[in-house]
Amino acid sequence: MTTTDFGAVHNSVLELTDRLRKADRYPLFPVVAQAGPTRARVRAAGCAAERDVTVLASADYLGPAHHPEVRERAADAPRRFGTGTYGSQAVGGFTELHEELERTVAAWFDRPAALLFPSGPQADLGVLGALAGPGDMVFLDRFDHGSITMGARLSGAGVRMFRHNDTAHLEELLNSGEAQEARRRLIVVAGLFSADGDLPPLREIAGLAQRHQSLLIVDEAHSAGALGARGRGAAELLGVLDRVDVITGTFSKSFASTGGCVCANERVADLLRHAAGAYLLTLGLSPATVGAVFGAFGVVAREGAERRRRPVELSAALHEMLRAAGVGIGASQAHVVVPTGTVDRTARIARRLVGEGLLVGPLFPPAVPIGGARLRLGVTAAHSEAELQRAAQLIATAVAEEQ
Ligand SMILES: Cc1ncc(COP(=O)(O)O)c(C=O)c1O
Repeated sequence: MTTTDFGAVHNSVLELTDRLRKADRYPLFPVVAQAGPTRARVRAAGCAAERDVTVLASADYLGPAHHPEVRERAADAPRRFGTGTYGSQAVGGFTELHEELERTVAAWFDRPAALLFPSGPQADLGVLGALAGPGDMVFLDRFDHGSITMGARLSGAGVRMFRHNDTAHLEELLNSGEAQEARRRLIVVAGLFSADGDLPPLREIAGLAQRHQSLLIVDEAHSAGALGARGRGAAELLGVLDRVDVITGTFSKSFASTGGCVCANERVADLLRHAAGAYLLTLGLSPATVGAVFGAFGVVAREGAERRRRPVELSAALHEMLRAAGVGIGASQAHVVVPTGTVDRTARIARRLVGEGLLVGPLFPPAVPIGGARLRLGVTAAHSEAELQRAAQLIATAVAEEQ
């Protein structure tokens, strides 16, 4: 291999990127100059002009990221601890704030212990690297997030994918000879599938995990805060919170910041503290980040019921507006998904929309299966119906005209 030949798959990604840039259609990495709850000033990649856009690409679903209390806590923490942590959590980068946040997160998910990680994907890598290895077998939904797939593959365990939300297929795989012979079986699913917005059949999966003596790990990245009567996530919503062995999550969606977490029993937490590379080989979250997450947990705990209701109602309204305008939409139960076919067409639509004042999330392989490019529209508690009405009209016209 040379630095111009990276193998067939990666070469084709770079060729596509070159082609989109040459045609001025490249829709990724917009540069954000300023951002509010639903409006931002952005520059499309490679362009000099800035535009004011309505943001429908945010995962700040419950909207605490601009809450004064959250900003104040983020500003206050560096006054006590400085701006960084200057050491891994094991050797001095673990402050009283980190300790208190761990307790808050563990209590939120009704678990004895929680650990903080630099991001959601690193939480998945840490758990899978520590709990799975050669001789084990990990079972994944085909639509699981890439961080789960990557963690499973890097662990050295055997990896088997079941068809999306197909518990009969999962059972078939669990019944196979190789699964029976595996030292340990682990089932890992997202609580809310990020690219399609649908939920896994967690009750059935928890039943299978129990019958087949498998560990059940649920990644509540998109669902924590947003789903369940108390905002504990999909496992709470589907009545299986006490049947999940390990919960992973992120603070980048409903908790106004960045960073990941793992919630488990004390023994697993202790294993991760001393054996998870993604935890040990990096620094603790910055104090400002921990302060912001704290603030967000406070806001979501107090105002969560109302903040959860609003995006659900607005997403249903946007679904209806798009349907009425003749736009086909996916079977999402959360964010709104518009299937747009090829990468080229999706890129054209997304870039056109930025020019017209709307920022949406274009999703391409490998984030979604090959042939399944789409737009993901993140509706937050802060959006207004008028903003969504305008967005629906722009999307409908772009989808009709960019064939
Ligand atoms: C299941 C899942 N895990 C992890 C992540 C990413 O976490 P983070 O935002 O902390 O990088 C996502 C992102 O969308 C996700 O869907």
